[in-house]
Formats: sequence, C-alpha cells, structure tokens
Amino acid sequence: MKNIFLIGMPSSGKTTLGKRLARELHYHFTDTDRVIQREEGLTVAQLFEKFGEDHFRELEARVLRTIKPGANLVVATGGGMPIYHDNMAYIKATGVSVFLDVPPEFIWERMLLHAEQHPNEQAERPLFRANDTELLTNLRLKYQSRLPIYQQADIIISGNATEQDVLNRLGDWL
Ligand code: S3P
Repeated sequence: MKNIFLIGMPSSGKTTLGKRLARELHYHFTDTDRVIQREEGLTVAQLFEKFGEDHFRELEARVLRTIKPGANLVVATGGGMPIYHDNMAYIKATGVSVFLDVPPEFIWERMLLHAEQHPNEQAERPLFRANDTELLTNLRLKYQSRLPIYQQADIIISGNATEQDVLNRLGDWL
C-alpha cells in the first residue's frame, strides 16, 4: 500500500488528521519532527538554536529518505520539509501527497488560541516566534513562498479537512 504524506503549514492539522487516517486505514503513523527529536535527543527549537536551520533541514532530509515506498505509513511532515533538498520530489516518488491548504489567517487564529491555552509551549516553533501582528505577516509570507511547492501535491484539500474528506479524495490513489 502506498504511503500517505501530509504536507502544509504548521498548525494545518497534519498530525491530528494523520493519526486518525492511520487508524482508519490500519497504517502506521509517523511524524518527522518527532522522529528527529527522538533521534537527536533535543527539541526542534533546541536544534534550531544550537545548530541552526540548515542543520535541521539536513536532518529532515535524512529522516525522509529512511521512508521507502510501500511502507504503509501515514507521514505528518514538518511544515518546511517539502521546500528543501528536493524533498518534494522524494515525497512524490514514495507515496501519495496530500496538501492541507489552510489559509494563513486561520493558522494565525489557531496559533494564538493555542498559545493562550498552552503558554509554556510558545517557544516550540522557532520560525514562528513573533508578536501577533508580525506572526500574521510572517505566516502570510511563508505561505505565499511555499505555495508553489505545496501545490505539487497529488491531492489538495482546502479548509478544515476531516479524515473522511481525505479518505474520499484518496480513493483510487491507494
Ligand atoms: C517548520 C514547521 C515545524 C517544524 C519546524 C519548522 C516550518 O513543523 O518542522 O519548526 O518550517 O514550517 P510543524 O509543521 O509540524 O509545526
């Protein structure tokens, strides 16, 4: 069975949806940020701080390439993963890609809400630490610049997708 890669901006629902999809399809679930954190023994934020973004992108590319075709995996990728190291081409060669296309304004609202509810986790996403207004600008810029790559996905789902939406769209792909 083909792997399923969920791609898109942070807070677009990749992990939540990915876990549900995996359960429905009897696939395994993996989250590339989690794998990196476990292997390196540091959080993503610590990896950015200690070694810089380029190093993190190397780790991402390496973890991605441990995933082989037909591994029955639902993969939640880090938001920037498809953008670097020709990773999008690898993703497309290794499974079905699904872009969860959530507009930056929605993501912004989600992030603000999350920050309010979990004040201790605010430092989690190093690329998106900013005051409220800057955060929105930052999200819009990142979204716009990443869109041409995200849009190479086999399936694009706009707005808040449910696992049923994704399952319906996956149809013949699997
Ligand atoms: C990043 C997204 C994060 C994580 C890192 C960089 C990005 O993953 O990989 O902070 O560049 O968009 P999530 O999309 O799972 O938050």
